[in-house]
Amino acid sequence: MAEKRDFLCVDDFSRQEIENLLELAVKMRKGKPQPLLAGKTLGMLFFNPSLRTRTSFEVAMYQLGGHCLDISARSDLYELEPEEGTVMDGSAAEHLKDAAQVLSRYLDGLAVRCLPERRDYQKERTDPVIRGYARYASRPVINMESCMGHPCQAVADLLTMRDKALSLEGRRLTLTWVNHPEPQSMAVPNSVLLAAALFGMKVTLAHPMGYELDPEIMEKAGKYAAESGGKLDVVHDIQDAVKGAEFVYAKSWGSIKLWEDKERERLMSRSHQEWIVDRAAMDRTDRAWFMHPLPVRRNVAVTDDVLDGDRSIVYDQAENRLHLQKALLVTLLA
Ligand code: CP
Repeated sequence: MAEKRDFLCVDDFSRQEIENLLELAVKMRKGKPQPLLAGKTLGMLFFNPSLRTRTSFEVAMYQLGGHCLDISARSDLYELEPEEGTVMDGSAAEHLKDAAQVLSRYLDGLAVRCLPERRDYQKERTDPVIRGYARYASRPVINMESCMGHPCQAVADLLTMRDKALSLEGRRLTLTWVNHPEPQSMAVPNSVLLAAALFGMKVTLAHPMGYELDPEIMEKAGKYAAESGGKLDVVHDIQDAVKGAEFVYAKSWGSIKLWEDKERERLMSRSHQEWIVDRAAMDRTDRAWFMHPLPVRRNVAVTDDVLDGDRSIVYDQAENRLHLQKALLVTLLA
């Protein structure tokens, strides 16, 4: 058997490999579905809710002639122990090592969504569950969103932007924090930032003070931007950030500084009500396309007129998840 490949982070694949995925996704979008994964089964383990990821992976496997097993990991599986060498006399009934190796005997690939519980950032930023599955499973593991990344979303977003701009190099993307009543995952901004930097986009990252992204992600994004001829600026004013943008990508994320203090985080977020993408903000752009990975809080993160307007491409983003994931599944499982 060939060595298995995982897709846990955007930069697990080289720029050329991502280009290949984008090309294959375009082909898949145009052509009739082919049974390239006939007889194969993908196991999807969801520790958290999902609409788009769950549906698009299941439809992708169906269209490729394969099968999908949808497991609600918190209720359908035993509680799993991720730590090595633990004396398992607590509530966890099975070790992740055993679960991953057993599932690998039945399945051709595993896809996992496991978001942080906001208890211990230094621990959660290592994505112990998804990385544990990747370590122990003998089959490819796909990250369907973790604490640190949502690579399927970000690469599908590259496809959506390329549909509009043909070439991504030099395109001006504003990736902006927006308001939300609850602290949200940093997975999407982390992955979109890395993907855009790898592809030479001119990225303006905008957020209020206190919502800095992980320093390691920022360092990598700066390095990729320098290598690809792109640019990365950070600003703290949404009105400045959107000026001249060709794409405005809105997403809320939680503060690392207040990781374990949801109440203070809510208070801090509430003090930034001006961080909403509205008509006035879009009027400052260069006729930008509006992007959001969904689900979105209408009239908190973005106003209805922008979201429902003719420059909104949020449903294209959602659709491209299907095409991109078909390309990814064929690349990893065929
Ligand atoms: N964008 C995204 O991943 O959507 P779901 O949470 O519905 O899967």
